[in-house]
Amino acid sequence: MTSQPIQRLGVLTGGGDCPGLNAVIRAVTKTALYQHDLEVFGIEDGFLGLIENRIHRLSPDDVSNILTLGGTILGTSNKADPARYAVAEDEHGKPIFEDLTELCLRNIRRHRLDALIVIGGDGTMSGAANFVNHGINCVGVPKTIDNDLEGTDVTFGFQTAVDVATGALDRIHTTAASHHRAMIVEVMGRNAGWIALHSGVASGADVILLPEIEYDIDAVCEYVRHRSRRGKRFTILCVSEGARPRGGQQVVAKVDPSSPDPIKLGGVGEVLADEIQMRTKIETRCTVLGHVQRGGTPTPADRVLATQFGNQAINLLVQGKRNRLVVMQGHTVTDVDLLRAANKQRKVPLDHPIIQAARAIGTSFGD
Ligand code: F6P
Repeated sequence: MTSQPIQRLGVLTGGGDCPGLNAVIRAVTKTALYQHDLEVFGIEDGFLGLIENRIHRLSPDDVSNILTLGGTILGTSNKADPARYAVAEDEHGKPIFEDLTELCLRNIRRHRLDALIVIGGDGTMSGAANFVNHGINCVGVPKTIDNDLEGTDVTFGFQTAVDVATGALDRIHTTAASHHRAMIVEVMGRNAGWIALHSGVASGADVILLPEIEYDIDAVCEYVRHRSRRGKRFTILCVSEGARPRGGQQVVAKVDPSSPDPIKLGGVGEVLADEIQMRTKIETRCTVLGHVQRGGTPTPADRVLATQFGNQAINLLVQGKRNRLVVMQGHTVTDVDLLRAANKQRKVPLDHPIIQAARAIGTSFGD
Protein backbone atom coordinates (compact mmCIF):
# COMPACT_ATOMS: atom_id res chain seq x y z
CA MET A 1 0.00 0.00 0.00
CA THR A 2 1.44 3.36 -1.04
CA SER A 3 0.85 7.05 -0.43
CA GLN A 4 -0.43 7.33 -4.04
CA PRO A 5 -3.94 8.74 -4.43
CA ILE A 6 -6.60 6.21 -3.47
CA GLN A 7 -8.28 4.43 -6.38
CA ARG A 8 -9.61 1.18 -4.97
CA LEU A 9 -10.84 0.70 -1.45
CA GLY A 10 -12.28 -2.13 0.57
CA VAL A 11 -15.05 -1.76 3.11
CA LEU A 12 -15.96 -4.20 5.87
CA THR A 13 -18.23 -4.39 8.90
CA GLY A 14 -16.80 -6.20 11.94
CA GLY A 15 -17.94 -7.27 15.39
CA GLY A 16 -21.56 -7.38 16.52
CA ASP A 17 -24.01 -5.83 14.08
CA CYS A 18 -25.93 -2.68 14.87
CA PRO A 19 -28.56 -0.51 13.21
CA GLY A 20 -27.02 1.97 10.77
CA LEU A 21 -24.28 -0.23 9.30
CA ASN A 22 -26.00 -0.30 5.92
CA ALA A 23 -26.44 3.47 6.01
CA VAL A 24 -22.65 3.81 6.37
CA ILE A 25 -21.94 1.30 3.57
CA ARG A 26 -24.35 3.24 1.35
CA ALA A 27 -22.75 6.62 2.16
CA VAL A 28 -19.21 5.26 1.68
CA THR A 29 -20.06 3.68 -1.66
CA LYS A 30 -22.11 6.54 -3.09
CA THR A 31 -19.63 9.23 -2.01
CA ALA A 32 -16.73 7.21 -3.45
CA LEU A 33 -18.46 6.46 -6.75
CA TYR A 34 -20.34 9.72 -7.36
CA GLN A 35 -17.87 12.28 -6.01
CA HIS A 36 -14.46 10.74 -6.63
CA ASP A 37 -14.85 8.00 -9.23
CA LEU A 38 -13.23 5.46 -6.91
CA GLU A 39 -13.79 1.71 -6.98
CA VAL A 40 -15.34 0.16 -3.88
CA PHE A 41 -15.06 -3.47 -2.85
CA GLY A 42 -17.22 -5.05 -0.17
CA ILE A 43 -15.40 -7.51 2.10
CA GLU A 44 -17.83 -10.15 3.40
CA ASP A 45 -18.23 -11.06 7.08
CA GLY A 46 -15.68 -8.64 8.46
CA PHE A 47 -12.05 -9.76 8.61
CA LEU A 48 -13.22 -13.28 7.74
CA GLY A 49 -13.75 -12.10 4.14
CA LEU A 50 -10.13 -10.92 4.05
CA ILE A 51 -8.94 -14.29 5.33
CA GLU A 52 -11.13 -16.26 2.89
CA ASN A 53 -10.81 -13.85 -0.03
CA ARG A 54 -14.53 -13.12 -0.24
CA ILE A 55 -14.34 -9.65 -1.72
CA HIS A 56 -16.61 -8.22 -4.43
CA ARG A 57 -17.13 -4.94 -6.21
CA LEU A 58 -19.97 -2.69 -4.98
CA SER A 59 -22.11 -0.76 -7.46
CA PRO A 60 -24.75 1.90 -6.77
CA ASP A 61 -27.41 -0.80 -7.22
CA ASP A 62 -25.86 -2.87 -4.45
CA VAL A 63 -26.37 -0.06 -1.96
CA SER A 64 -29.71 1.14 -3.20
CA ASN A 65 -32.64 0.85 -0.77
CA ILE A 66 -30.55 -0.15 2.22
CA LEU A 67 -30.65 3.08 4.23
CA THR A 68 -33.43 1.89 6.50
CA LEU A 69 -32.35 -1.74 6.63
CA GLY A 70 -31.02 -3.18 9.92
CA GLY A 71 -28.01 -5.51 10.00
CA THR A 72 -25.31 -5.35 7.33
CA ILE A 73 -25.51 -6.39 3.68
CA LEU A 74 -21.82 -7.36 3.90
CA GLY A 75 -22.30 -9.66 6.87
CA THR A 76 -20.07 -9.53 9.92
CA SER A 77 -18.08 -11.72 12.27
CA ASN A 78 -17.01 -11.17 15.84
CA LYS A 79 -14.66 -14.14 15.86
CA ALA A 80 -12.29 -13.26 13.06
CA ASP A 81 -9.24 -11.48 14.43
CA PRO A 82 -6.67 -12.34 11.71
CA ALA A 83 -3.78 -11.98 14.15
CA ARG A 84 -5.32 -14.61 16.43
CA TYR A 85 -7.69 -16.73 14.40
CA ALA A 86 -9.08 -20.00 15.78
CA VAL A 87 -8.17 -22.49 13.02
CA ALA A 88 -9.01 -25.71 14.90
CA GLU A 89 -9.58 -27.21 18.33
CA ASP A 90 -7.22 -29.37 20.37
CA GLU A 91 -8.26 -32.69 21.92
CA HIS A 92 -9.75 -30.80 24.91
CA GLY A 93 -11.89 -28.62 22.67
CA LYS A 94 -9.66 -25.58 23.21
CA PRO A 95 -9.17 -23.35 20.14
CA ILE A 96 -5.81 -23.42 18.38
CA PHE A 97 -4.93 -19.91 17.17
CA GLU A 98 -2.85 -18.89 14.15
CA ASP A 99 -1.74 -15.51 12.85
CA LEU A 100 -3.32 -15.16 9.38
CA THR A 101 -2.29 -11.55 8.83
CA GLU A 102 0.01 -12.46 5.89
CA LEU A 103 -2.86 -14.25 4.13
CA CYS A 104 -5.02 -11.15 4.49
CA LEU A 105 -2.23 -8.91 3.18
CA ARG A 106 -1.97 -11.16 0.11
CA ASN A 107 -5.70 -10.80 -0.53
CA ILE A 108 -5.49 -7.03 -0.11
CA ARG A 109 -2.70 -6.98 -2.73
CA ARG A 110 -4.58 -9.38 -5.00
CA HIS A 111 -7.50 -6.92 -5.19
CA ARG A 112 -5.11 -3.95 -5.33
CA LEU A 113 -6.88 -2.23 -2.46
CA ASP A 114 -5.28 1.11 -1.58
CA ALA A 115 -7.12 1.46 1.71
CA LEU A 116 -9.63 -0.21 3.99
CA ILE A 117 -12.67 1.36 5.56
CA VAL A 118 -13.27 -0.60 8.73
CA ILE A 119 -16.67 -0.16 10.36
CA GLY A 120 -16.67 -1.61 13.86
CA GLY A 121 -16.17 -1.31 17.60
CA ASP A 122 -13.09 -1.47 19.79
CA GLY A 123 -12.29 -5.10 18.87
CA THR A 124 -12.54 -4.36 15.13
CA MET A 125 -10.35 -1.27 15.55
CA SER A 126 -7.68 -3.33 17.26
CA GLY A 127 -7.90 -5.74 14.29
CA ALA A 128 -7.43 -2.70 12.04
CA ALA A 129 -4.48 -1.54 14.17
CA ASN A 130 -2.71 -4.78 13.23
CA PHE A 131 -3.06 -3.86 9.51
CA VAL A 132 -1.96 -0.29 10.19
CA ASN A 133 1.21 -1.73 11.72
CA HIS A 134 1.71 -3.65 8.46
CA GLY A 135 1.48 -0.46 6.40
CA ILE A 136 -2.17 -0.62 5.35
CA ASN A 137 -4.08 2.65 5.39
CA CYS A 138 -7.22 2.03 7.45
CA VAL A 139 -9.95 4.52 8.14
CA GLY A 140 -12.25 3.49 10.96
CA VAL A 141 -15.93 4.24 11.40
CA PRO A 142 -17.10 3.66 14.98
CA LYS A 143 -20.12 1.45 15.49
CA THR A 144 -21.64 -0.10 18.56
CA ILE A 145 -24.96 0.07 20.33
CA ASP A 146 -22.93 0.27 23.56
CA ASN A 147 -21.68 3.79 22.75
CA ASP A 148 -18.44 2.90 24.53
CA LEU A 149 -15.84 3.68 21.89
CA GLU A 150 -13.01 5.98 22.93
CA GLY A 151 -12.64 9.25 21.00
CA THR A 152 -16.22 9.81 19.89
CA ASP A 153 -19.13 11.28 21.82
CA VAL A 154 -21.56 8.96 20.11
CA THR A 155 -21.62 5.86 17.92
CA PHE A 156 -24.39 5.11 15.46
CA GLY A 157 -26.71 2.32 16.60
CA PHE A 158 -26.73 3.59 20.15
CA GLN A 159 -29.76 5.84 19.73
CA THR A 160 -31.72 3.01 18.11
CA ALA A 161 -30.87 0.69 21.00
CA VAL A 162 -31.97 3.36 23.47
CA ASP A 163 -35.19 3.78 21.50
CA VAL A 164 -35.90 0.02 21.68
CA ALA A 165 -35.05 -0.17 25.39
CA THR A 166 -37.12 2.90 26.21
CA GLY A 167 -40.10 1.49 24.32
CA ALA A 168 -39.80 -1.78 26.26
CA LEU A 169 -39.50 0.03 29.60
CA ASP A 170 -42.59 2.10 28.78
CA ARG A 171 -44.55 -1.08 28.10
CA ILE A 172 -43.25 -2.74 31.26
CA HIS A 173 -44.49 0.29 33.21
CA THR A 174 -48.14 -0.38 32.46
CA THR A 175 -48.03 -4.08 33.29
CA ALA A 176 -46.02 -3.40 36.47
CA ALA A 177 -48.66 -0.92 37.61
CA SER A 178 -51.49 -3.38 36.97
CA HIS A 179 -49.85 -6.19 38.94
CA HIS A 180 -48.16 -4.11 41.64
CA ARG A 181 -44.83 -5.71 40.91
CA ALA A 182 -41.21 -4.77 40.82
CA MET A 183 -40.11 -5.17 37.23
CA ILE A 184 -36.53 -5.42 36.02
CA VAL A 185 -35.51 -4.74 32.44
CA GLU A 186 -31.97 -5.96 31.66
CA VAL A 187 -30.36 -4.03 28.83
CA MET A 188 -27.09 -4.54 26.91
CA GLY A 189 -23.99 -2.37 26.98
CA ARG A 190 -21.13 -4.63 28.15
CA ASN A 191 -19.02 -2.75 30.70
CA ALA A 192 -20.55 0.64 29.95
CA GLY A 193 -23.92 1.82 31.21
CA TRP A 194 -24.85 4.25 28.43
CA ILE A 195 -27.91 2.31 27.22
CA ALA A 196 -29.18 1.78 30.78
CA LEU A 197 -28.59 5.42 31.72
CA HIS A 198 -30.33 6.91 28.68
CA SER A 199 -33.24 4.48 28.44
CA GLY A 200 -33.68 4.45 32.22
CA VAL A 201 -33.92 8.23 32.40
CA ALA A 202 -36.05 8.46 29.24
CA SER A 203 -38.58 6.01 30.65
CA GLY A 204 -38.56 7.33 34.20
CA ALA A 205 -37.17 4.12 35.70
CA ASP A 206 -37.08 4.27 39.50
CA VAL A 207 -33.78 2.43 39.80
CA ILE A 208 -30.95 2.43 37.24
CA LEU A 209 -28.02 0.09 37.76
CA LEU A 210 -24.84 0.72 35.78
CA PRO A 211 -21.57 -1.22 35.58
CA GLU A 212 -19.81 1.97 36.65
CA ILE A 213 -21.66 2.18 40.01
CA GLU A 214 -21.55 -0.98 42.13
CA TYR A 215 -24.96 -1.55 43.62
CA ASP A 216 -25.73 -2.30 47.25
CA ILE A 217 -28.49 -4.92 47.34
CA ASP A 218 -29.66 -3.59 50.74
CA ALA A 219 -30.03 -0.09 49.26
CA VAL A 220 -31.90 -1.42 46.21
CA CYS A 221 -34.35 -3.43 48.34
CA GLU A 222 -34.82 -0.55 50.76
CA TYR A 223 -35.69 1.70 47.82
CA VAL A 224 -38.28 -0.81 46.58
CA ARG A 225 -39.79 -1.07 50.08
CA HIS A 226 -39.71 2.71 50.47
CA ARG A 227 -41.76 3.16 47.31
CA SER A 228 -44.19 0.56 48.54
CA ARG A 229 -44.55 2.35 51.91
CA ARG A 230 -45.24 5.61 50.06
CA GLY A 231 -48.15 3.93 48.34
CA LYS A 232 -46.35 3.40 45.03
CA ARG A 233 -47.44 -0.03 44.00
CA PHE A 234 -44.75 -0.82 41.48
CA THR A 235 -41.05 -0.21 40.89
CA ILE A 236 -39.23 -0.20 37.56
CA LEU A 237 -35.56 -1.15 37.56
CA CYS A 238 -33.45 -0.63 34.43
CA VAL A 239 -30.38 -2.83 34.86
CA SER A 240 -27.31 -2.91 32.67
CA GLU A 241 -26.05 -6.42 31.87
CA GLY A 242 -22.68 -5.35 33.30
CA ALA A 243 -24.04 -4.22 36.68
CA ARG A 244 -22.36 -5.80 39.68
CA PRO A 245 -22.97 -5.80 43.45
CA ARG A 246 -20.60 -3.96 45.73
CA GLY A 247 -17.45 -6.07 46.06
CA GLY A 248 -19.01 -8.76 43.82
CA GLN A 249 -18.73 -10.05 40.28
CA GLN A 250 -20.57 -9.44 37.03
CA VAL A 251 -22.90 -12.23 35.89
CA VAL A 252 -21.47 -14.04 32.88
CA ALA A 253 -23.91 -15.80 30.55
CA LYS A 254 -21.19 -17.69 28.71
CA VAL A 255 -17.54 -17.69 27.73
CA ASP A 256 -16.60 -18.09 24.07
CA PRO A 257 -12.81 -18.69 23.95
CA SER A 258 -12.74 -18.42 20.15
CA SER A 259 -14.01 -14.83 20.25
CA PRO A 260 -11.75 -11.77 20.73
CA ASP A 261 -14.45 -10.66 23.21
CA PRO A 262 -14.91 -14.01 25.02
CA ILE A 263 -16.94 -12.88 28.04
CA LYS A 264 -20.66 -12.68 27.23
CA LEU A 265 -22.45 -10.86 30.04
CA GLY A 266 -26.06 -11.57 30.95
CA GLY A 267 -28.27 -12.83 33.75
CA VAL A 268 -27.87 -10.16 36.40
CA GLY A 269 -31.57 -9.23 36.01
CA GLU A 270 -32.78 -12.70 37.07
CA VAL A 271 -30.31 -12.82 39.96
CA LEU A 272 -31.60 -9.48 41.18
CA ALA A 273 -35.25 -10.40 40.70
CA ASP A 274 -34.83 -13.47 42.95
CA GLU A 275 -32.97 -11.46 45.56
CA ILE A 276 -35.45 -8.57 45.62
CA GLN A 277 -38.47 -10.85 45.83
CA MET A 278 -36.91 -12.93 48.60
CA ARG A 279 -35.95 -9.90 50.67
CA THR A 280 -38.95 -7.61 50.11
CA LYS A 281 -41.69 -10.21 49.50
CA ILE A 282 -42.75 -8.03 46.57
CA GLU A 283 -43.38 -10.05 43.44
CA THR A 284 -40.53 -9.31 41.01
CA ARG A 285 -40.13 -10.18 37.34
CA CYS A 286 -37.30 -9.74 34.88
CA THR A 287 -37.31 -9.11 31.13
CA VAL A 288 -34.03 -9.47 29.23
CA LEU A 289 -34.11 -7.42 26.03
CA GLY A 290 -31.03 -9.03 24.45
CA HIS A 291 -30.39 -8.80 20.73
CA VAL A 292 -33.69 -7.09 19.97
CA GLN A 293 -31.74 -3.93 20.85
CA ARG A 294 -29.44 -4.54 17.88
CA GLY A 295 -32.03 -5.40 15.28
CA GLY A 296 -34.42 -3.54 13.04
CA THR A 297 -34.41 -0.22 11.30
CA PRO A 298 -32.16 2.57 12.59
CA THR A 299 -33.76 5.68 14.06
CA PRO A 300 -33.63 8.83 11.90
CA ALA A 301 -30.83 10.23 14.10
CA ASP A 302 -28.73 7.09 13.55
CA ARG A 303 -29.37 7.19 9.79
CA VAL A 304 -28.15 10.79 9.68
CA LEU A 305 -25.09 10.06 11.83
CA ALA A 306 -24.21 6.96 9.80
CA THR A 307 -24.51 8.94 6.54
CA GLN A 308 -22.23 11.67 7.89
CA PHE A 309 -19.69 9.12 9.12
CA GLY A 310 -19.61 7.21 5.83
CA ASN A 311 -19.20 10.41 3.84
CA GLN A 312 -16.43 11.63 6.16
CA ALA A 313 -14.52 8.34 5.83
CA ILE A 314 -14.18 8.95 2.08
CA ASN A 315 -13.35 12.63 2.58
CA LEU A 316 -10.45 11.63 4.85
CA LEU A 317 -9.11 9.15 2.30
CA VAL A 318 -9.20 11.60 -0.61
CA GLN A 319 -7.54 14.24 1.58
CA GLY A 320 -4.65 11.80 1.92
CA LYS A 321 -5.17 11.21 5.64
CA ARG A 322 -4.00 7.87 7.00
CA ASN A 323 -5.19 5.68 9.83
CA ARG A 324 -7.88 7.96 11.15
CA LEU A 325 -11.08 7.20 13.01
CA VAL A 326 -14.17 9.22 12.09
CA VAL A 327 -15.71 10.63 15.26
CA MET A 328 -18.35 13.05 16.49
CA GLN A 329 -17.07 15.61 18.98
CA GLY A 330 -19.57 18.17 20.17
CA HIS A 331 -21.66 18.62 17.06
CA THR A 332 -18.76 18.29 14.67
CA VAL A 333 -17.82 15.27 12.61
CA THR A 334 -14.03 15.08 12.78
CA ASP A 335 -11.31 12.44 13.14
CA VAL A 336 -8.77 11.11 15.62
CA ASP A 337 -5.89 8.64 15.46
CA LEU A 338 -7.35 5.20 14.76
CA LEU A 339 -5.01 3.53 17.23
CA ARG A 340 -6.49 5.65 19.99
CA ALA A 341 -9.74 3.69 19.80
CA ALA A 342 -8.29 0.20 19.64
CA ASN A 343 -9.29 -1.92 22.61
CA LYS A 344 -10.38 1.01 24.75
CA GLN A 345 -13.80 1.41 26.33
CA ARG A 346 -15.44 4.71 27.17
CA LYS A 347 -17.43 4.36 30.36
CA VAL A 348 -20.05 6.61 31.91
CA PRO A 349 -18.28 9.17 34.15
CA LEU A 350 -19.65 9.04 37.70
CA ASP A 351 -20.32 12.79 37.65
CA HIS A 352 -22.12 12.67 34.28
CA PRO A 353 -24.79 15.43 34.13
CA ILE A 354 -27.50 12.89 33.30
CA ILE A 355 -26.68 10.94 36.47
CA GLN A 356 -26.79 14.18 38.46
CA ALA A 357 -30.15 15.18 36.98
CA ALA A 358 -31.60 11.72 37.62
CA ARG A 359 -30.40 11.68 41.21
CA ALA A 360 -31.92 15.13 41.71
CA ILE A 361 -35.35 13.83 40.79
CA GLY A 362 -35.09 10.85 43.10
CA THR A 363 -33.81 8.11 40.81
CA SER A 364 -31.75 5.50 42.67
CA PHE A 365 -28.49 4.19 41.27
CA GLY A 366 -28.47 1.47 43.90
CA ASP A 367 -25.56 2.95 45.84
O1 F6P B 1 -21.26 -4.89 21.86
C1 F6P B 1 -22.57 -5.05 21.48
C2 F6P B 1 -23.24 -6.13 22.30
O2 F6P B 1 -24.57 -6.23 21.87
C3 F6P B 1 -23.16 -5.95 23.81
O3 F6P B 1 -24.05 -4.98 24.29
C4 F6P B 1 -23.40 -7.34 24.28
O4 F6P B 1 -22.84 -7.57 25.55
C5 F6P B 1 -22.69 -8.17 23.24
O5 F6P B 1 -22.61 -7.37 22.07
C6 F6P B 1 -23.37 -9.47 22.91
O6 F6P B 1 -22.54 -10.18 22.06
P1 F6P B 1 -23.02 -11.41 21.18
O7 F6P B 1 -23.85 -10.86 20.04
O8 F6P B 1 -21.78 -12.02 20.74
O9 F6P B 1 -23.87 -12.28 22.07
